Amino acid sequence: MGNHVIQNKRGLQLDRVVLLGRTFEEYRRCFLLEPNRLVGKRVLDVAGGVSSFCAEANELGIKVTSFDPIYSMPAETVMQRSEPDLESVYRSIGSAPTYRWGYYKNPDYMRELRKRASTIFLSDYKAHPEHYVAGELPQLPFADAEFDLTLVSYFLFAYQERLNYEFHRDSILEIMRVTRGEARIYPTVTFEAEPSENIPMLRLDPRLERFQFTQIETDFEFLVNSNSFLKVTHA
Ligand SMILES: C[S@@+](CC[C@H](N)C(=O)[O-])C[C@H]1O[C@@H](n2cnc3c(N)ncnc32)[C@H](O)[C@@H]1O
Repeated sequence: MGNHVIQNKRGLQLDRVVLLGRTFEEYRRCFLLEPNRLVGKRVLDVAGGVSSFCAEANELGIKVTSFDPIYSMPAETVMQRSEPDLESVYRSIGSAPTYRWGYYKNPDYMRELRKRASTIFLSDYKAHPEHYVAGELPQLPFADAEFDLTLVSYFLFAYQERLNYEFHRDSILEIMRVTRGEARIYPTVTFEAEPSENIPMLRLDPRLERFQFTQIETDFEFLVNSNSFLKVTHA
């Protein structure tokens, strides 16, 4: 797969969207989720990738659907693509100054959690293909107001250098079309640990004036300044 990771002065930069996944516990912390209150609710995980959030949440009775372009591929191909991405990030992330290691402690433990996530994902992807829907933002193949809560982790804002403002705006319009409750987008910073320039533009965009944007602080920070998510609600 070649070398996807480029090191620059500030830290880790990725030459494309990487195929890594977080666990349910990491999602819970990133998005300040209260699992008991989500039981029975319809949740959409946009750009879910090889995260085990969908698998673990469904086990708890939360009705999660995960959405990602990779779900058009068979399980073996997904893993063949994901494993080199994890190794590239694992080799580079320890020397990047844009990370705080309080939770993960070291790159080995980070890799262990990512492997745990992708292993749980893989088994659920094979056993419950109905949890996984293939497609690409800025389009979503779901009905209006189908979901109580939509989550986006490490896709919008984080990859702002690869995804332009119009992509962000159109994606949020589409996410809010399928969401009857609220959407949460994490983190609010780029991989340079800088606040995304798209957030103030979204707040001022007349096409989005029917939505409210609120930045919610959390106590979870790995990428520096990643201790917040953007909550989007229907005004
Ligand atoms: C860094 S991973 C994040 C995975 C997961 N959300 C997490 O935090 O563990 C980014 C994901 O974005 C997906 N992706 C890339 N382009 C996309 C698009 N146009 N629409 C939706 N997802 C996309 C990739 O396939 C990849 O799985």
